[in-house]
Amino acid sequence: MPIYLDNAATSFPKPSQVIEAVEGTLRQNAANPGRGGHQLSLQAGRLVMECRETVARFFGISDETRIAFTANATEAINLGLFGVLQPGDRVVTTSMEHNAVVRPLRELSDRGVEVVRVMADSIGFVSPDSIRQACLSGTRLLIMNHCSNVTGTLQAIDEIGPWCRQQGILFMVDAAQSAGVFPIHAEDMAIDLLAVPGHKSLLGPTGTGFLYVRKGLELRPLLYGGTGNFSQSAIQPTEMPERLESGTLNTIGLAGLKAGVEFIESVGLDSVRAHEQKLLSQLIEGLSDVAGLSLNGPLDSIRHGGALSFNVRNMDPSMLGFRLDHEYGICCRVGLHCAPEAHDTIGTLPEGTVRLSPGYFNSADDIEKTLIAIRAIIASER
Ligand code: ALA
Repeated sequence: MPIYLDNAATSFPKPSQVIEAVEGTLRQNAANPGRGGHQLSLQAGRLVMECRETVARFFGISDETRIAFTANATEAINLGLFGVLQPGDRVVTTSMEHNAVVRPLRELSDRGVEVVRVMADSIGFVSPDSIRQACLSGTRLLIMNHCSNVTGTLQAIDEIGPWCRQQGILFMVDAAQSAGVFPIHAEDMAIDLLAVPGHKSLLGPTGTGFLYVRKGLELRPLLYGGTGNFSQSAIQPTEMPERLESGTLNTIGLAGLKAGVEFIESVGLDSVRAHEQKLLSQLIEGLSDVAGLSLNGPLDSIRHGGALSFNVRNMDPSMLGFRLDHEYGICCRVGLHCAPEAHDTIGTLPEGTVRLSPGYFNSADDIEKTLIAIRAIIASER
């Protein structure tokens, strides 16, 4: 079995509860939710509702109808940005964002939205002060990630959210790398829009995710179509979540997502984080004295989420990744990680970095083997 260190891309393996939930639903309960009055459709509808309730509880959201399920975090981000911003609006973002944020903002900029970028420092941290300075009056929305998928840098969203609320600026968080590892209480943190993938640290299957939309904030949909209710009207319903959920939902995936979140709840979020932090410390410690190897991002595991990036002098990251995979069976991600602006910020354009991202199911032994493999490859290239 390969050693999988690419959990920042998607988590693997999944808990057996998730696999069983997916299989059980596919075998017994895969009717169309909310689209019929028969028992199987009602059962599927209940499952979707239970998933919504589970996710709401987990993220400190008191009204589960404010959660719109999506296929991934990218769709959730697009839904939030295109749903709120209009030509003439001003939006503030950071230099550490993924293309899931960069590209929709580029499109919106072409349509007349003013986009302002706040630079992070060399470890990928964006100071709350520089954000406050960039958010002039008239700013409609601030969007930033909670944790970088390149450097693992954690941002101070709990400080920034309440400030935005005071200023009347909408606060949107891309929690792709933090949801399921770090506590996120959307209401207490004054988050207006929260984009979350289901398939990363929430341990659900690919094809799952959601956008939380704070009560009182009404979005333009990305998709228009059948919602299973108000069928007599040609106009998209205004009610949440139907307003933002046209088309048949991914019931099977949502069964898995619910099981993934319940698994984290049963283990305890603190234990998940403690385990990942321990593995991260082991990696940081094991790589920090390798000659010619430079670690990117914060060097302590406290201000660090799951992804750890590094470069080796005169060595192409893709060669290192290829050798780790082919000679040692270690799966990691190399290159730009769909986040070229973040690499530009930390000075690793154009080649990018080697990224190791341990997850809940990795062990200290996996990390030890990886450290040995990296040292051996570097020694053989010298
Ligand atoms: N955004 C994911 C990553 O960083 C896919 O790998």
